[in-house]
Amino acid sequence: MKVIQVKNAQEGGKQAFAILKEEMAKGITTLGLATGSTPETLYQEMVKSDLDFSDMTSVNLDEYVGLSGENPQSYRYFMNDRLFLHKPFKETFVPNGKANDLDAECIRYNQIIADHPIDLQVLGIGRNGHIGFNEPGTSFAVETHVVALTESTIEANKRYFESIEEVPTHALSMGIASILKSKQIILMAFGREKAAAVAKMIEGSVTEQLPASVLQTHKNVVVIIDEAAASELTNA
Ligand code: GLP
Repeated sequence: MKVIQVKNAQEGGKQAFAILKEEMAKGITTLGLATGSTPETLYQEMVKSDLDFSDMTSVNLDEYVGLSGENPQSYRYFMNDRLFLHKPFKETFVPNGKANDLDAECIRYNQIIADHPIDLQVLGIGRNGHIGFNEPGTSFAVETHVVALTESTIEANKRYFESIEEVPTHALSMGIASILKSKQIILMAFGREKAAAVAKMIEGSVTEQLPASVLQTHKNVVVIIDEAAASELTNA
């Protein structure tokens, strides 16, 4: 893992954008994208850049079960709002949270990933070390799956909803096995509340109890963290 320490989320977004730009100049075609507050500075850099994404494909990590793309809390809405409406892509994929048959939706999404191998995957990290919506204890072997969200994740994500009762309890998420197929991964983490997860991800043992620790086994990972997120690293 290559670790880049930056001053703040703004700087982190710029660093991630610089890598993306370099990779696009080399001809990559498919981005794996994430939601949450963490990648927002990267998306701002993309939006204000003069880069053209109209030949690019994106495959998003996850979506809440039960929310349609018109729902402002859905991840499809988030992606349209923050990025795709400003910078059109050739094709964009997000799991369908309204699918009647969720198992069939997982199979469909696995096929999408197989048909569009991800060159560069962007990740954030949850406070408990989750990536996508792969909560602690999820098998590293799993591909797209239906997830029951943990209390910690529901609590962390309630800020986007009017009340905690409105936060969906389930999500569709690419699995760890899907994420590891990406040729390159950039994980970003900003803020003190991510420090413990970041330290375990980088310096702890590889364990399904801390899903992001699996990134130690991938050969092309860049971690971009600010000072607060780096504050529990012993080798910083
Ligand atoms: C959600 C998303 C993750 C994201 C995490 C952290 O659980 N499914 O992809 O990394 O939240 O969110 P934030 O970046 O807002 O801290």
